[in-house]
Amino acid sequence: TALGGVQQDLSGRHLLISAGGTREELDPVRFLANHSSGRQGWALAHAALARGARVTLAAASVDLETPPGADRRDVTSAAQLASLVAEQRERADAVIMAAAVADFTAAQRSEAKIKKTDNGDSAEGAGGTDEAPSIPLRRTEDVLRTTVTWRGDGQRPAIVGFAAETGGEGHTAFELAQQKARRKGADLLVFNDVTAGVFGSADNAVRILDADGEQVASAEGSKTEVAHAVLDELVRRLPDVPL
Ligand code: CTP
Ligand code: CA
Repeated sequence: TALGGVQQDLSGRHLLISAGGTREELDPVRFLANHSSGRQGWALAHAALARGARVTLAAASVDLETPPGADRRDVTSAAQLASLVAEQRERADAVIMAAAVADFTAAQRSEAKIKKTDNGDSAEGAGGTDEAPSIPLRRTEDVLRTTVTWRGDGQRPAIVGFAAETGGEGHTAFELAQQKARRKGADLLVFNDVTAGVFGSADNAVRILDADGEQVASAEGSKTEVAHAVLDELVRRLPDVPL
């Protein structure tokens, strides 16, 4: 059935969509971040809502108005996003990881602001020493991988990952995306060639891969058009019975 011209093929479905970019605090005033604006995740949420889905939107540092009808949950760090997904995944027909999740976080967040070794309070100290601290990092949880592992042999939730790649070291961006699709084991991996740069822009071009790294669709145009193309593929891979 159609409602306002949009097919209601996600009616009765619950989608958990992560969007934006996580921030990892180094000290009380600084963090590690990335360029993700949250627009692709937002477009997915809008599109899914238009198609009748219930949407929980895990928003990592997104400065955009909440899509009407979405259940928005704000998070900051990769660890917070991991906890939220772990809490929500059992109620989801699909988990879409559109967020750019930090791969590394500070091994230990400094309680005090990290200072220059040169305090700058003596005239001869103006040039200072060239010493700079090294900040030990550790890996964060791979939320997509954890979700795939948690699902095991089950059908629910369907799982979608995103990969922004540039080529390098003898591999094209597409080849790297294919390897990632096979490694991650998500039902779909949405590959974005960022050699040209897309962060913060309205337009997008993606190729959608399955868990074998085979291309099943491609889409070009606005992030809304891309979102609908992703959902078209997702619909066919949802668990047989809605929650
Ligand atoms: N992802 C995740 N948790 C992380 C890192 C990434 O869930 N700690 C998810 C992203 O949301 C995305 C997918 O994994 O859907 C691919 O992210 P990407 O950064 O391309 O892959 P990585 O495995 O982190 O590999 P690399 O950054 O080295 O290319
Ligand atoms: Ca990464």
